[in-house]
Amino acid sequence: MDFRVKAGSKLTGEVQLPGDKSISHRSIMCAALAEGTSVINGFLNGEDCLATLDAFSKMGVSIDRTDNKVVVQGVGLRGLKKPDSDLYLGNSGTSMRLMSGILAGQNFSTVLTGDHSLSARPMERVVTPLNLMGSNISTNLEGKPPIKIESSSGLNSLSYELPIASAQIKSCLMFAGLYANGPVTVTEHLRTRNHTELMFQEFGIEVEVNESSKARKITVIPPKSFLATDINVPADFSSASFFILAALITPESELLIKNVGINKTRIGFLHALRHMGANIELQNEINSLEPTADILVKTSDLKGISLNTALVANMIDEMPAFFIAAALAEGITKIKDVKELRAKESDRLQAMSEALESFGVKFHLNGDGIVINGLGKDGVFKASKISSHGDHRIAMASSIASLRAEGETTIIDCHNVNTSFPNFIDVCREVGINIAET
Ligand code: S3P
Repeated sequence: MDFRVKAGSKLTGEVQLPGDKSISHRSIMCAALAEGTSVINGFLNGEDCLATLDAFSKMGVSIDRTDNKVVVQGVGLRGLKKPDSDLYLGNSGTSMRLMSGILAGQNFSTVLTGDHSLSARPMERVVTPLNLMGSNISTNLEGKPPIKIESSSGLNSLSYELPIASAQIKSCLMFAGLYANGPVTVTEHLRTRNHTELMFQEFGIEVEVNESSKARKITVIPPKSFLATDINVPADFSSASFFILAALITPESELLIKNVGINKTRIGFLHALRHMGANIELQNEINSLEPTADILVKTSDLKGISLNTALVANMIDEMPAFFIAAALAEGITKIKDVKELRAKESDRLQAMSEALESFGVKFHLNGDGIVINGLGKDGVFKASKISSHGDHRIAMASSIASLRAEGETTIIDCHNVNTSFPNFIDVCREVGINIAET
């Protein structure tokens, strides 16, 4: 499926976006392992979260979904059943990495597989620490899926320093901690998204967090069991980022994005854009465990910046959108140390470089960083064909960039937008974007 986008006039109105992907995954995982019935409202019906839901159904968890409402009958920590076949997780790295932690503690074996893109993603980053806990897990020779998890008679406690700033590794070990014979501590030097910490707290699982200026230590105390609870999933900030970008770069726009998750560990993009001069206001802030706000965005003249590397972990999924903001800013934007972009659904550093090239933007790749020469507030991208590399975030960032291209731009291979934002096209049309699918 390709998208065709025409250069845009102003974006206005109010939009409600789909639920947060990270929180939706974790809500199914925790609810499945809890005792009793949990109701999840605002669940993201994207293919990735449905892969998690499906996998737990195959392990004997009764899950009822009507649109965004999911009712999960928890089976307890020891209640999962061996699935009849391998668990296929589609494109979803979060499902595979977090579930590895849960499955490492089961008394049955499992095999986790994925699509072409997931099968090329590094998994030794979770397998190595899990095996340090006494599990017996293997990947192919290159450290990639399928992941084979042998049955376990119990996991050991662990203290582990994250070699990469990754919430997926941290969360995998936190889930494995539910099955350990003692505390599991994960130390991170850059703060990554803390949805697992918050979700565990919501389910009454004991988690200690010690934070200093240098590191954050998260310790899970293994529970005997924990009780079901209801979860409200806010709209996904990562999905909102595309509409924040769209309103910023399209003349005379004013867009209100409702009820978006603004967890501090997720909004690096907002800080970076404000630093570039973006007019973004938070309204109706609600300070729940996962805080939310309405985000009001107005067209802004952006200027280039040197991106603070500490922000990168808190805007890792927003980097493709950030590249487009940089390409339309006045002056130069410098982005250093974004090697992790190469390990996403595609090599996003490469994929975005190709997109910038097609749009006629000058840039310089240096190792795992990039310097982008912004076209400025009146800059116009060359209309062209852009390959999404089968990556949802490249597809959406390129679609929004096309609002500032001359004529019509075709973005090739956009099916994967369904993994995180199934109604992207509808929302685009709702706010006035001229987009067609072919
Ligand atoms: C996620 C963590 C991030 C992010 C991914 C979702 C999560 O990955 O890119 O889309 O839900 O924990 P890493 O932790 O590998 O950076």
